[in-house]
Amino acid sequence: MAEPPVRELRDVSVAFRSGDGVRTVLRDLQLTLSAGEWVALVGRNGSGKSTLARVLAGLLPVSKGEMISRGRAAIVFQQPEAQIIGETVYEDVSFGLENLAVPTEQMPGRVQAALAAVGLDRPAEAPVHPLSGGQKQLLAVAGNLVLEPALLVFDEATSMLDPSSRHRLLHLSRRLAQEGACIVWVTQWMEELAFADRVVALADGTVVFDGPPDAFFYEGACEALGFDPPYAVRAALALAQAGIDLGRVLTVEALTEAIARAVTCGVAACGADAASGSREGCR
Ligand SMILES: Nc1ncnc2c1ncn2[C@@H]1O[C@H](COP(=O)(O)OP(=O)(O)OP(=O)(O)O)[C@@H](O)[C@H]1O
Ligand SMILES: [Mg+2]
Repeated sequence: MAEPPVRELRDVSVAFRSGDGVRTVLRDLQLTLSAGEWVALVGRNGSGKSTLARVLAGLLPVSKGEMISRGRAAIVFQQPEAQIIGETVYEDVSFGLENLAVPTEQMPGRVQAALAAVGLDRPAEAPVHPLSGGQKQLLAVAGNLVLEPALLVFDEATSMLDPSSRHRLLHLSRRLAQEGACIVWVTQWMEELAFADRVVALADGTVVFDGPPDAFFYEGACEALGFDPPYAVRAALALAQAGIDLGRVLTVEALTEAIARAVTCGVAACGADAASGSREGCR
């Protein structure tokens, strides 16, 4: 039997008081998040992504409707400063474990594993204060990872990381999803959607798309939202318009493979004509 969802939002709205009025930021959301899913959450600035992220993590109550929660959530924010609690690397990562009453003898092993997973190359006894912004962000990820949450939300958490750290976290989060966690990855980077099982797009506090990344890019939702598809998708769309159908590729690697296949097939198909220089019969 399938596991029950990690989070179920039923008709959820969130409103904030502003001045003498009320501003509705999320409207009548229906959303089910399951164990093992890697979900990209996208939308323009102010569309409600961070508000939804905080609701999912249990940090913000809903104004209307209900959210059914199963399992612990953790969230990594864009800015590391607000998330750092300890004075040393060890203190910071182990803080949450103390709250969960994890036996003291298990802590060093779990802390070391979390630091190794995020690739933070600092000793456990190192002070937090002199770490760079990116290193603090990796520390914040380790502090959440170590809690082994059922739901892990990254709210534009990689925006200040260098490409290799960003890639490392993308692959790490994919592995966590394979191991059964639900990952919600808030991003403005369309290239990162290639990692997603599912894309949820918000506009003005409502879900305007919920489906696989290839449908998001190849059925118009991406442009409708005001985002440019990644290079590989734009190239494949342009080639399709010129009559060369490479399928719904999402990455440069997949595009390259599809082109290589098409070229090889093309040569094989017109091999007989190649000697005579005729292209007749080529698709
Ligand atoms: N505490 C609050 N009080 C009043 N309004 C708020 C509050 N938090 C968020 N909002 C408003 O809700 C709307 C959605 O904000 P939110 O931060 O969820 O958007 P976002 O999609 O994460 O945007 P960004 O891409 O810029 O991070 C914004 O218009 C914001 O001003
Ligand atoms: Mg935000």
